[in-house]
Amino acid sequence: MRILLTGGAGFIGSHISLLLLQKGFDLVILDSFVNSSTNVIKVITSYVEKKSSKCNLKIINGDIRDRNLLEKIFIDSIKDSKPIQAVIHLAGLKSVADSVLNPLGFWDVNVCGTNNLLETMSKNECYSIVFSSSATIYGLPDSLPIREDHKVSPINPYGETKVAIEKMLEGLYKSNINLWRICSLRYFNPVGAHPSGLIGEDPIGIPSNLFPYISQVAAGRREFLNVFGDDWDTNDGSGVRDYIHIMDLSEGHIAAIDYLTSKESCFEFINLGSGKGYSVFEIINQFELSTGVQIPFIIKGRRVGDIAKCYADISKAKNLLNWFPKRSLEEICLDGWNWQKNNPNGYIL
Ligand code: NAD
Ligand code: UD1
Repeated sequence: MRILLTGGAGFIGSHISLLLLQKGFDLVILDSFVNSSTNVIKVITSYVEKKSSKCNLKIINGDIRDRNLLEKIFIDSIKDSKPIQAVIHLAGLKSVADSVLNPLGFWDVNVCGTNNLLETMSKNECYSIVFSSSATIYGLPDSLPIREDHKVSPINPYGETKVAIEKMLEGLYKSNINLWRICSLRYFNPVGAHPSGLIGEDPIGIPSNLFPYISQVAAGRREFLNVFGDDWDTNDGSGVRDYIHIMDLSEGHIAAIDYLTSKESCFEFINLGSGKGYSVFEIINQFELSTGVQIPFIIKGRRVGDIAKCYADISKAKNLLNWFPKRSLEEICLDGWNWQKNNPNGYIL
């Protein structure tokens, strides 16, 4: 089965790529490398070729907003007698801070890019899509754990683009309910790395998320961690989030593809998280315990746009996809640290 994976060179996409290739899928990656390195492709290819004889991977360096290119990708696959049967759509911009500074750029890439993709899929009779949505769309949660029927109320342009895409997908599904198979996966906080230590998260510039920041402090690239607030309404005053191992998240995509292909048509929003909440101090403690590396920190004021607590109800994913997260917080710390230690400067060697 041939799958088109947009954004397949990024943090999440690289881990999904590896898994799909190991499972024998035929894969086409479309990525503009605006937030990723071409080196990741070399690492994936050599890893898969070492583990199994075949690596059915085609890389297209391009932009999801380029309609002619998208059209060509679908047509070329049909000519190869390997039509694209499903799309996993991850390509997009994700920095919350950038979205506040450049909302139009976010609407262009995320929303117009997705519109382009869906039109091209429709034209070429490919009706199965897994989309990467985000827990950020829930905004300030009224109740915890968060279920998929919780109100959607994003508090930044990034989150607004995700909601707009979900609405686009819903409208498309309703336009012909016997045709489309759609899963919008709402990720909580994907962290960690592939257990090989060969691929992992490699943010450009100063990391804005907790885990990559801690890893870089551990590696000596940063002096200390800034803890954004110790006065939240949580067990220890620091922010609580739902951290999910990147390999568990990746397996959730395989489960979603299996689910879609078993259906005549469907449209589902599904949370992917661990279902557990951990505070910043708990993460620091676990990281130190697992790796033996100390994480110096200082307490700073609250970060604009932050919330106290956020964690998922994952029963829908369990029931519908027969998927559940298998890896512990300790494995998250160990695998994340293994990647950072082996690649202190990321993919740039
Ligand atoms: P990432 O930036 O590492 O990966 C995104 C990839 O998309 C990059 O390789 C980038 O080069 C590519 N890309 C960006 N714009 C493109 C365009 N116009 N055309 C083609 N390729 C383009 O991000 P990630 O963490 O892997 O996230 C993947 C998806 O998951 C994103 O849509 C993001 O919004 C969503 N998501 C991520 C998180 C998270 O915490 N990482 C949480 C929720 C949702
Ligand atoms: C952030 C984004 C969210 C996005 C998600 C994944 C904001 C306000 N939210 O979520 O929209 O979907 O990333 O990309 O940017 N923390 C520190 N020090 C740090 C970094 C983080 O104390 O250097 C704390 C935060 O205050 C928070 C927790 O660690 O309590 C997790 O932060 P982070 O990893 O950025 O994830 P989110 O806040 O969930």
